[in-house]
Amino acid sequence: MKLLFVFLLLALPGLHATALADINIPIETQHTALVLRVDTAQNLLNIYLGKRLQNQAEYAGIRGNPRNEETYSYMFQSAYTPAGGRNLLEPAIQALHADGNPSLDLKYVRHETKSAGSGIQLTTVYLKDPKYPFEVTLYYKAYINEDVIEQWSLIHHSEKTAVRLHKYASANLYIPAKDYYLTHFHGDWAQEMRPDETPLAAGMTILDSKLGTRADLFQPPSFLLSLNKPANEETGEVIAGTLAWSGNFQLAFEVDPLHHLRVIAGINPYASDYLLPPGREFVTPALLYTYSSQGKGLASRNMHNWARKYRIPQGQGTRLTLLNNWEATQFDFNEDVLTALFKDAKKLGVDLFLLDDGWFANKYPRNNDRAGLGDWQENVKKLPHGLGYLVKEAEQAGVRFGVWLEPEMVSPKSELYEKHSDWVIKAPNRQQSVFRNQQVLDLSNPQVQEFVYGIVNDLLTKNPTLAYIKWDCNAAIYNAYSATSANQSQLYVDYVQGLYKVLARIRTKYPTIPMMLCSGGGGRVDYGGLQYFTEFWPSDNTDPLERIFMQWDYSYFYPAIATCNHITDWGRQPLKFRTDVAMMGKMGYDIVVSKLSENDLQFSQQTLKTYERVHDVIWQGDLFRLQSPHTSDVASLMFVNPAQDKAMWFNYLVGNRYKSGTVEPIRLSGLNPAKRYTLQEVNIYPGSRSFINANTATYSGDYLMTVGFNPQVSANRASVVLELTEAK
Ligand code: DGJ
Repeated sequence: MKLLFVFLLLALPGLHATALADINIPIETQHTALVLRVDTAQNLLNIYLGKRLQNQAEYAGIRGNPRNEETYSYMFQSAYTPAGGRNLLEPAIQALHADGNPSLDLKYVRHETKSAGSGIQLTTVYLKDPKYPFEVTLYYKAYINEDVIEQWSLIHHSEKTAVRLHKYASANLYIPAKDYYLTHFHGDWAQEMRPDETPLAAGMTILDSKLGTRADLFQPPSFLLSLNKPANEETGEVIAGTLAWSGNFQLAFEVDPLHHLRVIAGINPYASDYLLPPGREFVTPALLYTYSSQGKGLASRNMHNWARKYRIPQGQGTRLTLLNNWEATQFDFNEDVLTALFKDAKKLGVDLFLLDDGWFANKYPRNNDRAGLGDWQENVKKLPHGLGYLVKEAEQAGVRFGVWLEPEMVSPKSELYEKHSDWVIKAPNRQQSVFRNQQVLDLSNPQVQEFVYGIVNDLLTKNPTLAYIKWDCNAAIYNAYSATSANQSQLYVDYVQGLYKVLARIRTKYPTIPMMLCSGGGGRVDYGGLQYFTEFWPSDNTDPLERIFMQWDYSYFYPAIATCNHITDWGRQPLKFRTDVAMMGKMGYDIVVSKLSENDLQFSQQTLKTYERVHDVIWQGDLFRLQSPHTSDVASLMFVNPAQDKAMWFNYLVGNRYKSGTVEPIRLSGLNPAKRYTLQEVNIYPGSRSFINANTATYSGDYLMTVGFNPQVSANRASVVLELTEAK
């Protein structure tokens, strides 16, 4: 009788591969589901990642790998693949037990799902090696409304002595589709975020960094993965993912022998064996990802919503416009020069003056990039009255004051180096290497952590109204070796953890000070760092033409409010073009205001007023990329505020052959079809006029999204910015 019952159940459609004892663990957001399954042998498997089903019970009908018997290991679908047993593919974890056994087995123990705050569900799955006191806990935080999943793991054991972890991934996904198209980003200084989309071939594709600090210089830890066919902005299945870690990372994409995709993401195992003592926990950084069945546009809006609400400090707040002096003065300034610049900043109409590199060090003055890093005392020749005086002078001029720091670094020509050469990362018996003439301080050393924290703390204690910090990081790690660490093999990991400790301490004491994450341009743009920083510096390349591309590509992962765009003298475009491009994010200036023509100054002052009126639409609005600069001569994108009664629309000529321009209307997106919108051109340069007449340019959202509107971009109107306001 019992046998007959089992037979009948197995014969039921939808239940064929799901044995009776299987447990399904759905991790759901509003539109997405990641489903794990515990099979009868207590293995934890990835079963599904995609659109959420209306009826949760139906996940039970999803078949496990129908060709499991062809996999030799039966574990291609493992939700956290342990190495050393039956596994034949890329593992998520590889450990050497205290007794020298290099194999690991992980079986399901239990799981729980509970609320982790408003709109957040945390699912925790406990795994254990049946033969060793070794446990892995997998965490899945589901941000319901944002459709984002944050996934990480915790490793713990109570073996007799330390376990050596060779690999310890954050996430191990399994994504069966017909084909896979990976967009990754690469570059170098001044050419960050260059996208490449390629179909994934069978076998392994690895994106990684081995630079230690400035880790994203060649490649950031972010990717877009289109399933079945390349996705575009509004259609197609796509997963946007990014690892929240400011150090060496590895994103492994393995198309397995069954043509199914395994994604294993985490800290780069390269030169990073981690010795985990008994009783201690190792927590990996998180992989953040979102699945969209409506193209890349929705995926990035999900990321932006999540980041503003849950990750970036004051992500739903406001930002300060600023004038920076780096491009204008480099290292060559004094108090008089600076106080004149404060007045310029006020005249321009920005909120803050940001003093960049070169204000410190005395024995080896910081007059160029070859000396002084580490000696964070004001240079008495340049600033005889100190920073406090400058803060007050700026405030008297009507602007706030901010300052540049590079606290993780040291110049070999510095007093710090003379005093504490053991604080510097460098290998014995090797020639010392410098990167931009400097070396990296050893943040695995608690004394160094204290020193770095002290730099910021002293500055803010002495100058309580100091209003902004730009935190730079210009060198990668060469000759990775710590003079004080007992575990050299984990220096890369200890470094980042040490850095985060310092930053967390700073944020605890100074929760609201705006801080810019900079790394010789965009060498450190990731959501690990961005839990402490209000904004980031995408690149030293501020040529506006290049920036249209770069900002476009950063926008797949990061919201405009966090993207610092400065108007500088880079590039050949007129000031209007440069300003229009910078306006698509957190706008700032790095120019000599006193050298602006009367018209340029008037234009800038007017634009800053416009920006004050519209910045919330850009910072908090939904982004719609309409026409890509990569495939079109006119790039076009827009931001729509949540109430859909305001939008900002930006258009740029990026290719100028064959009389290029907008011949056809461009279809808008994200508007309310039932509302009517008035279009008005803004940022009009003094003396020019707009062809777009606000008295007549009123259309329904339906019309604008179906028929479109021609912003009349041409060689004479190379950038056109339109403000859309609901007509009431
Ligand atoms: C690199 C940064 O990206 C620049 O903006 C500037 O701050 C310099 N460092 C200063 O040395």
